[in-house]
Amino acid sequence: MNTFNSHREEMKSLVLCIFVCTFLGAHSLENGLVRTPPMGWLAWERFRCNTDCKNDPDNCISDRLFRTMADLVVSEGYAAVGYEYINVDDCWLEKERDFNGNLQPDALRFPYGMRDLSNYIHSKGLKFGIYEDFGNYTCAGYPGVLGYLENDAFTFASWEVDYVKLDGCYSHPKDMDRGYPEFGYHLNRTGRPMVYSCSWPVYQIYSGMQPNFSSIIDNCNLWRNFDDIQDSWSSVESIIDYYGNNQDVIVPNAGPGHWNDPDMLIIGNFGLSYEQSKTQMAIWAILAAPLLMSVDLRTIRPEYKAILQNRKIIAVDQDPLGIQGRRIYKKNGIEIWARPITPVYQSYFSFAVAFVNRRTDGTPSDIAVTLFELGLNFRGGYFVEDLYEEVSYGVLTPDTKIKVKVNPSGVVMLRADVQLPSFKDRRYPPAQSIYRPYDVFQVARPFLK
Ligand code: GLA
Repeated sequence: MNTFNSHREEMKSLVLCIFVCTFLGAHSLENGLVRTPPMGWLAWERFRCNTDCKNDPDNCISDRLFRTMADLVVSEGYAAVGYEYINVDDCWLEKERDFNGNLQPDALRFPYGMRDLSNYIHSKGLKFGIYEDFGNYTCAGYPGVLGYLENDAFTFASWEVDYVKLDGCYSHPKDMDRGYPEFGYHLNRTGRPMVYSCSWPVYQIYSGMQPNFSSIIDNCNLWRNFDDIQDSWSSVESIIDYYGNNQDVIVPNAGPGHWNDPDMLIIGNFGLSYEQSKTQMAIWAILAAPLLMSVDLRTIRPEYKAILQNRKIIAVDQDPLGIQGRRIYKKNGIEIWARPITPVYQSYFSFAVAFVNRRTDGTPSDIAVTLFELGLNFRGGYFVEDLYEEVSYGVLTPDTKIKVKVNPSGVVMLRADVQLPSFKDRRYPPAQSIYRPYDVFQVARPFLK
């Protein structure tokens, strides 16, 4: 090759690189969505891949199921406390694309098409979510987006989708560092704001890779780190343990617009007791987790509905600071989890605190700890209340000992709000702008070994 030609080749690669790097490497997901964790209903854990509408019309993955759940989210008061997204999961597709290469829903189970379902969900004041997979197939074997990234992003926009969960079966985890951002790029380019839920880190972790979390944060609104939740307490416990044991890596990645997703709420199904259900809700709120219920809202018992609709715990989950909480104590089956929340005064946070009893010895455990030992050291005191029981402790100073009785596999959840001094006593401006979120836990560590 002569010099001129080789120079031309170099220029061509440079131009190509500038093009590819700008749209794949350097962009970040600034879609302004989910400044607090998303809340809604998701089909998978409860309804799975039931496609048998002939024999099981009430429970199969179908247009009717999603319309029914949308109706109930509104009529049963879930929408009023913040649940908003109605999300389709796997098994909604035909096994083949149409002759133009477009995705198409199963014609028998979604006879009116996805745009019509989306319109219905929007007409209820709710938002519409859909599921796809970065690979050749979805996990259940339906067509994946590989090879059709741009096309499928625009299809979703044309259906007025508000939320896309992109799974990672049938793809190579190494390709995800490029592929997930690329699909996100196409989503953004449609001009329709769509929440982007990724499974990118979990597949990479399982294949022994270390996920590039800074890129994941830049490109996804939420992402799965760990196993699928199943309908059992042991599954919930394994997720709680995973998040506690890996918190130094996981917690700093959460913040407004980008969340860790420990998977769905299974409250109200078959596997969790009442106490365990309270524990799942409490820990998910501490984790700043998406609150995606996967439960049959037609038959849920009132006590489970009350847990899902607990406004005080939802307020913790939805705290505007968006700082994910941590496990600050673990010994002999007793755990304490804490999350810094608003209001903040100077460098003093308010806190949500969950006392969890993982013991199985049948009798409630007593826990007694001072606020100071929990890291709550504001001398002006905290207004403390129980978030499940109608119990208020009034204003407590850091040296006060809190005593709680926690049932086996249950939780006591408190909220301690910094007592804001009256305006004339405030000598300094509030310090939201200078707080360093991860320092607040250091205070507690020496005391809680
Ligand atoms: C994976 C995901 C689940 C669900 C199924 C559907 O296992 O992690 O949440 O979407 O696929 O096949």
